[in-house]
Amino acid sequence: MRLLSVQNLSVSIRGDDGIARELVSSISFDIAAGETLGLVGESGCGKSLTAMSILDLLPKPQAARSKGSVLFKGENISTANQPRLRQIRGKNIAVIFQDPMTALNPVQTVAQQIIEVLQIHFPKQSRSAHRHRVLELLREVGIPAPEERLSAYPHQLSGGMRQRVMIAMALACEPDLLIADEPTTALDVTIQSQIVRLLKGLQAKNGMAMLFITHDLALVSQVSDHIAVMYAGKIAEYGKARDVFATPHHPYTQSLLAALPGIHHPPKSPLLALEGQVPAIESMPSGCRFSNRCRFVAEFCHHNVPPVEHISDTNTVACHRWKEINS
Ligand SMILES: Nc1ncnc2c1ncn2[C@@H]1O[C@H](COP(=O)(O)OP(=O)(O)OP(=O)(O)O)[C@@H](O)[C@H]1O
Ligand SMILES: [Mg+2]
Repeated sequence: MRLLSVQNLSVSIRGDDGIARELVSSISFDIAAGETLGLVGESGCGKSLTAMSILDLLPKPQAARSKGSVLFKGENISTANQPRLRQIRGKNIAVIFQDPMTALNPVQTVAQQIIEVLQIHFPKQSRSAHRHRVLELLREVGIPAPEERLSAYPHQLSGGMRQRVMIAMALACEPDLLIADEPTTALDVTIQSQIVRLLKGLQAKNGMAMLFITHDLALVSQVSDHIAVMYAGKIAEYGKARDVFATPHHPYTQSLLAALPGIHHPPKSPLLALEGQVPAIESMPSGCRFSNRCRFVAEFCHHNVPPVEHISDTNTVACHRWKEINS
């Protein structure tokens, strides 16, 4: 069953010059119950804007506008009012962001913050039940000696511990979907893999689905059932992760994978670093957005937007030349 279905989502933000620019352009994806969708792409391609628009958490709300529909368990939440969204936010969909310091309250202890979440969602339970649950949650996310951490303030914890507290808070409401926007970027590699293992373990136990956002393709290969490769506000390639990693069809995905050491390299793709950068929104190519960096570019690529085409029942690609270059 589809838990979340995002259809033709676009996000525009009006700049200081008064011009509205479309930073995310008509993207679609689904997440099934219990599954993980990895959303990957270089910095600035619109991953966070996509994540934020799902729950209407866009920055500068007066200047931002999103279009398209977001169905959660069949309910169109893109037209839901704020009270309903708040309800969903706490109860069904939890979000964790890159920097836990911005999400944790610096003047409240770890216990107070998690208890607050529990009070909102389980108001009928007693205070001692909440306290018991806090300890259980801290234990679940791998915080050693949780009894001793209850009265700690966020600044007294290491980065990895703060991230675990964030995850504990997100899990406190037993969400159906966890949106994790670069949850491990600020952490060192060992802690990073611990957190990823932790999330996978909790997912297996609770059956929650995840939207896992990262620019780290190796990381996403460890966690995702499905993957959406984003480039400059659009989805370049989408579908079953195993297929995308085994036979990437979009030149962008191929370049990203070719730059990764230790992952199977598709035939005909030498180890090439991708040159150049994601174009700035003001200088976006009018045809294929990847055209100015693509080694397979043809003249018509510069002028025509590639349609989303099916590679298989499950996977799609948006490239004019995908058949030729993969034959
Ligand atoms: N509040 C804002 N006002 C104007 N432009 C914004 C705003 N937030 C994001 N952008 C622009 O939108 C584009 C997409 O940003 P977004 O944060 O979604 O990228 P991202 O893929 O999450 O990147 P990263 O990997 O660095 O987190 C970028 O070009 C960014 O500069
Ligand atoms: Mg981001």
